[in-house]
Amino acid sequence: MLLKTGTQILQRLPTRAACSVRTWTSVTTSRDALIVHSLKDTSFPYIWLRDSCQAPESVHPSTRQKLHRSSDVPLDTKPANLKDGAKINVGEGSAETGVRVSEDGVEIRWADGRTSFFAREFLRVHANEQSLKEAHFSERTESTPWTSATITKSPNLFVEYGSLQERTGLVDAMSQLLKYGLVFVTGVPTEEKVNETCELKTLAEKFGEIRRTFYGELWDVINVQNSKNIAYTNLDLGLHMDLLYFHHPPRFQALHCLRNRVIGGTSFFVDALHASHTLFHQDRAQFDLLTTTPVAFQYLNDGHHLYKQHPTIQLEDPAKDASNLSLTSPPPISHINYSPPFQGPLPLGTPAEFYPALRKFSDILDDPQNTYSYTLREGDCVLFDNRRVLHARTAFQEKEGADWVPGVKFGSGDSMTNRWLKGCYLEADAVSDRVRVGLTKLASS
Ligand SMILES: [Fe+2]
Repeated sequence: MLLKTGTQILQRLPTRAACSVRTWTSVTTSRDALIVHSLKDTSFPYIWLRDSCQAPESVHPSTRQKLHRSSDVPLDTKPANLKDGAKINVGEGSAETGVRVSEDGVEIRWADGRTSFFAREFLRVHANEQSLKEAHFSERTESTPWTSATITKSPNLFVEYGSLQERTGLVDAMSQLLKYGLVFVTGVPTEEKVNETCELKTLAEKFGEIRRTFYGELWDVINVQNSKNIAYTNLDLGLHMDLLYFHHPPRFQALHCLRNRVIGGTSFFVDALHASHTLFHQDRAQFDLLTTTPVAFQYLNDGHHLYKQHPTIQLEDPAKDASNLSLTSPPPISHINYSPPFQGPLPLGTPAEFYPALRKFSDILDDPQNTYSYTLREGDCVLFDNRRVLHARTAFQEKEGADWVPGVKFGSGDSMTNRWLKGCYLEADAVSDRVRVGLTKLASS
């Protein structure tokens, strides 16, 4: 039976990728791998090919889930009648000889009698890390570091709420959030202020799935008249990230400005990914210290006991990159963990060198050239990457003859407020999922 491999994957790929293999010439069989000459002589090990087979026997046609374990593939898997060093051109080979090349791809009959087919595009996509990334839309989703000057040139820093009704507008906004970690949606209705019916819930669910925390699904940041609680005052809030005392802090945060009748209260955003890259180039030893020294974050209040240690700069692959002194560019960074207000006491064994390293990092973060500032207007909603982009807010003052309105309920009665943001957190995977699906649909429309 002929098993078609990779057909379903190709249906999800952008059409631009389907045209990129211009020539399709020949393959050569070696002892352990198939060498595809049109893909820069990429070697595809037989064990990888057999394990990656997506035929109905290998991948369930309906669930698209793998039906065998990688550990099940025999270590000596090879095509039937393998001839070492045999070059097979398009239109040559046969099932009997184990490998056959056609205009569409490569068919392999395995020694145990099964047959797989590997489409040209499937092989191209998996030939190297870069093409695999591109197939998963890295160009529109991978983090791009920014400064104050460069973020203003990003294509969709401000988008109209109405534009999110169209797939193109929504994909552009989500792509902006994934790439730069910062997007402002303007013109979001402010009339509904109750969590169940407010526009932020609708907006957030367009982007992804709301992450519920002990603050609830949606929560309010308000300035309360005569407040005794610092959280509800007009004091300065320095650069920070939210909920770093969680094992898995929320990736994105959305803040919708429902009311703003004060002077000041400007929001600040800083790309800590860019700051990390700057530190890498300025002082590699200090960069390394921030990737390896755990910092404690905690919330011991209001009946909660939350505690987690994270390194300030979290590498994607610490085992590979933390001690690789030959690197000339920053290694991939998965998250930044920087939130001074939520720090607990540092571990007693923290190296003395860590303190000046953290000071240096803070100085880079505080550099005005790295700061994007914006005063939210009523109807603006900012979404940002809470694992990468720091946020802050300056103090604000009451206007003459302050315009107070009822805010959220505290205890028995309404509070009065003149600055009111409603917020929520969003999970990362739902946003990535929707933007990739949207890009696939746009590419095929
Ligand atoms: Fe915050």
